[in-house]
Amino acid sequence: MSTSSNPHSTDSEKYLFIKTYGCQMNVYDSDRMIELLAPLSFKSVYTPDQANLIIINTCHIREKATEKVFSELGRLHRLKLKAKNEGRQLLLAVAGCVAQAEGNEIISRAPFVDMVFGPQTYHRLPQMIKQAEELNNTNQAGARIIDIDFDTEKKFDELPVEVTSRSSSFLTIQEGCDKFCSFCVVPYTRGAETSRSPEQVMREAKQMIQRGAKEIILLGQNVNAYHGTLNNRIECSLGRLIRELANLNGLDRIRYTTSHPNDMGDDLIDAHGDVPQLMPYLHLPVQTGSDRILRAMNRKHDVSSYLRVIDRLRNARNDIAFSSDFIVGHPGETDQDFAQTLKLISEVEYSQAYSFKYSARPGTPASTKKQIPEKTKSDRLQTLQQLLAAQQLAFNLRTVNSTQPVLVEKKGRKKGQLVGRSPFMQAVYFDGPENLIGQIQCIHIKEGFANSLAGKLVCREDKSPTSNKNETETLKGAHV
Ligand code: 5AD
Ligand code: SF4
Repeated sequence: MSTSSNPHSTDSEKYLFIKTYGCQMNVYDSDRMIELLAPLSFKSVYTPDQANLIIINTCHIREKATEKVFSELGRLHRLKLKAKNEGRQLLLAVAGCVAQAEGNEIISRAPFVDMVFGPQTYHRLPQMIKQAEELNNTNQAGARIIDIDFDTEKKFDELPVEVTSRSSSFLTIQEGCDKFCSFCVVPYTRGAETSRSPEQVMREAKQMIQRGAKEIILLGQNVNAYHGTLNNRIECSLGRLIRELANLNGLDRIRYTTSHPNDMGDDLIDAHGDVPQLMPYLHLPVQTGSDRILRAMNRKHDVSSYLRVIDRLRNARNDIAFSSDFIVGHPGETDQDFAQTLKLISEVEYSQAYSFKYSARPGTPASTKKQIPEKTKSDRLQTLQQLLAAQQLAFNLRTVNSTQPVLVEKKGRKKGQLVGRSPFMQAVYFDGPENLIGQIQCIHIKEGFANSLAGKLVCREDKSPTSNKNETETLKGAHV
């Protein structure tokens, strides 16, 4: 989320604080809310203390994420009472997937919340705020605004054209999911799968580039299921869209997330070989290495079809690095099933991965099945994470002594330190002047750690998109 705090604000200015939980799509949505509210004189700030509007943009994917929302709401209630004592209006809003799934429960458990709206209706936020302010002014306690329709098409039409600037920018191109994995709430909270038009995506991408984006990360719950129509007649897959984006001047890097193995079409795989701007890193969740559990999860692929996709991608681009999501303890998972997950991990060799204990989500098919004991889940998670951590460290160590083009994103924690991302999504720390933020710089990697790399600036030049070919070749050399 991009935020700014202005000590020289005018009296009519109001302060907006957004706290974002969960996936990158929530980060994208929060940025759009900031832009939507700027014309209403809302300035985005870093802390909630003086805010006039606090939005928590929530995630419902696992139980812990939902619990966090309710404990956060307790804290916010105290802030709201404090604001009232000080004579300052403070509106509280809950947005995102918890709002979508548990809107009524929020209102009954936290009646001090003013607005509850889902991921598909935040474009109506200005009207909701107006309504909430009127309710507050006329002291109509208990009257709350809930807006949790599924209205995706309209949402993108109504969002403002201005886009928040980041050197690496998220761009939502697809939303929702029709896959209905046994464990997942997304099809219920984000709705059916929809794609934005390629024209709209290209327009937004150009604006992001104009405002300094060097990298665009295309987002979707099932991003590689993207199917747009160019000029209202030509089918446009994700592979085609990436090729269109690669023609834009000034765009050095393209990534996309999150993908389903069944939607890795030939044109998309070919793009990994042909489009130098497409970075050699792919998040391709498999969830488990057991065919039996893949069936129970309704994943609609098996281990060998997943491995075939990995092979095809490696054939297209031999240095491509992979990450994945894993769930341990899905109902029915035995020790043998779990052993097969470890085997798959050893076979693929991931550069990083995310792993979770299965968490029963209300309304999903797996939640009604016999559950695995918590201790078994914890033990399996620990074993799995040890293996994944060892692979990640080994991958990072293999980068030592290579020179990586790093997109510099921000200041590091130490004085004079900057941090950016390698093409393989590794965090790279090095010393350098702040004016390098937003540029691609060559960094010689000196050390590799569990979660990052440390390096030294070797040349100071802003790389143009045409120099990507060389960038790619250097990297291939470093990673074969
Ligand atoms: N329990 C645990 N992990 C889950 N995920 C999704 N739903 C659940 C759940 N109920 C994980 C999956 C998915 C990632 C975003 O979150 O691994 O790919
Ligand atoms: Fe959820 Fe992904 Fe499965 Fe869709 S494909 S239901 S988003 S895990």
